[in-house]
Amino acid sequence: ASKPNSVGKGTLVNISWRKDVSKVADTISADEIGEKVAMCRCWRSKKFPYCDGSHNQHNATTGDNVGPLLVKK
Ligand code: FES
Repeated sequence: ASKPNSVGKGTLVNISWRKDVSKVADTISADEIGEKVAMCRCWRSKKFPYCDGSHNQHNATTGDNVGPLLVKK
């Protein structure tokens, strides 16, 4: 794995999700969660804020080690 990118001024976490708003924030009702849900923390999911497994490709190509937040009822 390669070295992770440095974090600093000008480094974007969110590459492409809802760039038309000044801040991306989401609300999910506890009633919407079944047994468990995986929330994306890599900002690469096509189903954001839910994880779709895109973190695996991100980790493989960047050397990062991020994964989802699993929320269980
Ligand atoms: Fe982002 Fe899984 S797709 S954490």
